[in-house]
Order: sequence, then structure tokens, then C-alpha cells
Amino acid sequence: MPEVPRSFVPAAGRDWLLPLYDPLLRLMGVDRIRAILIDQASPQPGDRVLDLGCGTGSLAIQLRALHPEVVVSGLDPDSKALARARRKGDRSGSEIEWHQGYADALPFPDGSFDRVVSSLVFHHLPPDVVRKAIPEIRRVLRPGGMLSVLDFGAAGHGVVSALLSRVASHQHGEEDVAVELLAMMEEADLVEVEVRSASWTLFGELFLTTGKVPRQVA
Ligand SMILES: C[S@@+](CC[C@H](N)C(=O)[O-])C[C@H]1O[C@@H](n2cnc3c(N)ncnc32)[C@H](O)[C@@H]1O
Repeated sequence: MPEVPRSFVPAAGRDWLLPLYDPLLRLMGVDRIRAILIDQASPQPGDRVLDLGCGTGSLAIQLRALHPEVVVSGLDPDSKALARARRKGDRSGSEIEWHQGYADALPFPDGSFDRVVSSLVFHHLPPDVVRKAIPEIRRVLRPGGMLSVLDFGAAGHGVVSALLSRVASHQHGEEDVAVELLAMMEEADLVEVEVRSASWTLFGELFLTTGKVPRQVA
């Protein structure tokens, strides 16, 4: 039977808004905030790093520019965003492998990566997808590998929050994505699980949630 295509929320909420995505995020100062995520992930020479939900590729390209000795892959379900990522990567001379796929069904063997990084993706994923995605990410990380997620907290109340729900397609309402992630990382037996505030943007506070795969797998 032919596979039924899955739905997903695209980067800018609508396909026709995609050309505005990078300029809007530059305006929000997100490149500077992504650098905080890269700094926290601190990949080592030779490490393999996956940018999960890479969209138009900005984080993967920034990571590769800061760490040219690292092997970077980007994954996203959106072929249009991936086409932009590929063009941007080629223009900047970055060697990055781009893959089409979903966070909860990663097309990689066990232990493929030393780091999985992700920015502004999890608030787009319905809670049941997040619940499946965390063990899947753990599967593709090697023992000692680390997951680092930069994202909004709760959409909450008020005008800015309404904007966050609408413009940023926040799927978790008043539930705090960072707190949900923390609990799900612990459930998936990640260790040294932590959440901290990374920065403020026009649409609210961004958090950095991190966890590691134990070195000795029981
Ligand atoms: C707001 S964009 C963030 C893109 C990029 N990480 C950045 O920092 O600019 C969210 C991305 O999540 C992707 N996405 C949506 N559902 C997904 C899923 N199930 N698995 C992986 N990525 C997904 C979208 O296609 C989109 O590119």
C-alpha cells in the first residue's frame, strides 16, 4: 500500500511564508541565541552532530562554521525548507548532509551521533510526537552523547502569548515545553538532565534543555 504522507507544521506555519522565515528570525536575534546552544553542545573534533528539525539550515550552517572539524547532518520533513538549507549550505561552502524525515522515526542506525541539537522545533510537535521522539533521539545517540534543545516554554496568557500560539504555531498551549521535555528526557533514562533560561525574544523566553546518554548502558 502506498505510504500516506504525514502532516507537520512547517517552519513559518504556512509554506508561502517560508521566504520570510530567515529575515524574521534574524530580526529576533536568533542567530546569537543559537550560538548559546552550540556553545553548550560543545562538539569535539570528529564528532557527528545531528540538527533535528533543521528547517532552512541556519543552525547546522552556523555550527559547521564554528566547528569545521565536526560532521554535521540536518534533518527535517519539509522538502521546501530542505531545498533552502541545501542552497544556503552550498553558498557558504558548508559540507552538510541533508535528510528528509521525522523526529520520531529517525532514518539512522543506533548510536550514529555524538550530539543531537535542535532549535525552535519541539513547540511545533504535538505532545504525543515529542513522547516518541525523545527515546528515538536517545537511540541514535552513542553512549555519552548529548541532546541539547533550544525552545520556548509555555505559550501562556496575554497578547504576546497569543502571538506565540498563532505566529510560532505553539502546539502545547499553557503546558511548558521545557518542563515536558525535562520529564520525557528523564523517562527515557537520560542523565544530567537540566533546563535553564537561554534568552528572551519578541515572542517570549527561550530555554535550553539538555540531557546525556549514560556512558555505561545498563
Ligand atoms: C520553527 S522551525 C525551526 C527550524 C530551525 N531549527 C531553526 O532554528 O530555524 C521548526 C521546524 O520543525 C520542523 N518539523 C515539524 N515537524 C517535525 C517533525 N515531526 N520532525 C522533525 N522536524 C519537524 C518543521 O518542518 C520546521 O522546519
